[in-house]
Amino acid sequence: MSLPLDPVRIRAEFPSFKQPDLKDFAFFENAGGSYTSAAVLNRMRAYYWNTKVQPYGAYPASRLAGEAMDESYRRIAQAMNLAADWIHIGPSTSANTYTLARAFEAWLKPADAIIVTNQDHEANSGVWRKLVSRGVELREWKIDPQTGHLNVADLDKLLDSKVRLIAFPHASNIVGEINPVADIVKRAKAFGAVTIVDGVSYAPHGLPDILALGCDVYMFSAYKVYGPHQGIMAIRPSLASELPNQSHFFNETSARKRLNPAGPDHAQVAASAGIVDYLDKVAEIAGPGVEGATPYRRAANAMRAQETALIAPLLDYLRKKNGIRLVGPDDPAKKVATVSIVVDRPAAHVAGMISRHNIGVGGGHFYGYRALEALGINPAHGVVRMSFVHYTTPQEIDRLIAALDAEL
Ligand SMILES: Cc1ncc(COP(=O)(O)O)c(C=O)c1O
Repeated sequence: MSLPLDPVRIRAEFPSFKQPDLKDFAFFENAGGSYTSAAVLNRMRAYYWNTKVQPYGAYPASRLAGEAMDESYRRIAQAMNLAADWIHIGPSTSANTYTLARAFEAWLKPADAIIVTNQDHEANSGVWRKLVSRGVELREWKIDPQTGHLNVADLDKLLDSKVRLIAFPHASNIVGEINPVADIVKRAKAFGAVTIVDGVSYAPHGLPDILALGCDVYMFSAYKVYGPHQGIMAIRPSLASELPNQSHFFNETSARKRLNPAGPDHAQVAASAGIVDYLDKVAEIAGPGVEGATPYRRAANAMRAQETALIAPLLDYLRKKNGIRLVGPDDPAKKVATVSIVVDRPAAHVAGMISRHNIGVGGGHFYGYRALEALGINPAHGVVRMSFVHYTTPQEIDRLIAALDAEL
């Protein structure tokens, strides 16, 4: 197997791999939350130890605290090929979509239509569906009940000039298929609709170039991208300033506060720059053999190549395995490293059986409740979800296959 990223060097960036309790534990629930990189933990420690004061004040420690926070906005924007005024950092993606929906509630008019999918995690679905109570027309872009695929031809049938907003995932946390964001955005823009992308299940596999995607809003959860428990939301500045203020009245003109009524978690915001330090490190480990115009494109390309190589034997195995249903595509080129299967026993029970092999997989509906129902899977029965990232090793994939073979 040819891997652009040396797993030993990559894993050296994560203190968790050195912990005795986690030694030999193979972690396959990364879609729920990744290990945290040392770069992030170091910044968090530095913030709490050196500058844990109210930021943006007149005294030196306060100024340094504010600068540490500013650095995160700047560097995250840079990694996504954006200007810093796109970036908003809130408590989580669920909190960010909630606030965003409150803002759009006042922006939309009763005769307007919006499009949601039944492939999304509930965080990018329920908040939009609730706008129906305000007289907004809801249109659902439905997945194929067999494959979980979102077909753009079906989207075209839903689009017209009444549609003001469309919310969809870059990749579903159950199906794992990579949706063609740039193409979807182009189709939506032809009718003037705002595009809101849940990138939570995609971003851990490589932060995208948002300008290239062309969407108006892109969200991801930092705690699944080697960072702290924060939700990062990139919003086109012209749109953000059009949306009504969701914070205190005197924050009306504060771009970073208007869409974050919770107030910033200073230390975690400051620590978020560590995600970008880590991506710089990934680009360095990838070396000149991996292409990309910036370190962040190279890091993303290297992660993608690594995971595509790692996932191939797992998909090969599952494709041939009798008595299971593989959800989503079995082609590594079409999906992120999130693999869901349905078996005869309840998924949570199977996760328990696999854990006896010192392997962590998930079992349940993972808040993709509507996607499971649309696929004809009882959410209480659930899917067994095996999700990994670029720090996973070929040996761990082999161990997972052996455990599945022993238990299923
Ligand atoms: C695809 C997807 N979207 C949104 C969320 C919600 O993110 P958060 O936990 O930051 O609210 C998750 C969390 O699992 C997710 O997987």
